[in-house]
Amino acid sequence: MLEALDLADRGRFEVEPNPRVGCLLLRDGAVVARGWHEYFGGRHAEAMALDELRREGLQADTAVVTLEPCSSGQGVGGKKQPPCAQALVKAGIRRVVIGAVDPDPRHRRAGIDLLEDAGLDVLDGVLASRCDELYAPFRKALQLDRPWMLCKWAMTLDGKTAAPTGEARWISGPQARKKTHELRAHCDGVMVGFRTAQIDDPELTVRHVEGKQPVRIVIDPLGEIDDDSNLVRTAHVAPTWLLASEDVDPVRSGHLQDLGVQVLHIPTAEGPRRLHLGRAFKELRRRGLRRILVEGGGGLVAQMFAWNAVDQVLAFVAPKIIGGQAAPTPVGGDGRSFMAEAWQLSEVRMETYGEDMAIAGFV
Ligand SMILES: NC(=O)c1ccc[n+]([C@@H]2O[C@H](COP(=O)([O-])OP(=O)(O)OC[C@H]3O[C@@H](n4cnc5c(N)ncnc54)[C@H](OP(=O)(O)O)[C@@H]3O)[C@@H](O)[C@H]2O)c1
Repeated sequence: MLEALDLADRGRFEVEPNPRVGCLLLRDGAVVARGWHEYFGGRHAEAMALDELRREGLQADTAVVTLEPCSSGQGVGGKKQPPCAQALVKAGIRRVVIGAVDPDPRHRRAGIDLLEDAGLDVLDGVLASRCDELYAPFRKALQLDRPWMLCKWAMTLDGKTAAPTGEARWISGPQARKKTHELRAHCDGVMVGFRTAQIDDPELTVRHVEGKQPVRIVIDPLGEIDDDSNLVRTAHVAPTWLLASEDVDPVRSGHLQDLGVQVLHIPTAEGPRRLHLGRAFKELRRRGLRRILVEGGGGLVAQMFAWNAVDQVLAFVAPKIIGGQAAPTPVGGDGRSFMAEAWQLSEVRMETYGEDMAIAGFV
């Protein structure tokens, strides 16, 4: 189980709001295959381990897995993979050793029941408290009525996200940018604030890696995005959703819809330019978006912190210095007054991408 925990941890920051899971398959007490849930929407740990088993032409009698195997089928309860409990039965596994039972009340013990009903010997609760620790983000996600939000930014060593002119290409190097494309491919949506859409004119598509295109979302209360911006021009190729105020000019809104942009009307919170982000994000969840990559800028990210809507942060730090007071920083707004009030990250991981450092953690 300790080895399965290590495997599960490889998915940290990549799988949420899904659970991190590790799985070992054994034959006569020896490990013959390993699997883990690698990224959000990817294959489950058990399926990965069974794939390896088949590839190697081996047989297994025992599975060790950090979380109760899932029991519901593809498309049920938002799940993207076929049920693992059934796959283990079909593969001829006789004994399943489980760490944590599923914290989701809709599925709790259903996988264990399925295995036992099929005549398998099930032992659960092995290193249960260690396994339960893994599932804190998953338990948090179960309580949310909005998508899981991952805020990512690139900044200079002195904490700036653009030059004072607003120009930000490029702060990080090619390896960090490739990682960003991988993150996009593993999210349902990519979101930016109106000013980032205006200044950077990003495409927000997946280009440097193979993968599915996420929905591109712009927080644009008054529908001010340029008609000839990349996000509008390519709206027929990859979906672009604009989150605008309910009071946005209907002619403008209709024009954008004609250009292929989907305009979602959201109530305002503090004056005509401020959308009620709680309602906005709930609407995105209702439309089936479960993991969103937020790519700035600082105005939007500050608002998201204010709405308590940041779950995960990934900052690329580039060995460059811009200096000065005028250049923007990753989180704008008023911020916090005292260090004791600072937002604290947990389970922090640091990696290097070329010359850039990536620091990631849960908020
Ligand atoms: N290095 C990086 O990773 C990175 C990433 C993205 C952007 N950038 C840079 O950051 C700069 C843009 O950042 P920014 O902070 O100026 O703009 P931004 O965050 O892209 O957009 C801010 C806009 O969003 C609006 N907004 C925020 N919360 C809102 C809410 N609840 N309802 C409606 N609208 C809301 C703001 O409205 P108000 O005006 O009313 O506040 C503002 O118009 C650019 O220079 C860009 O190059 C860098």
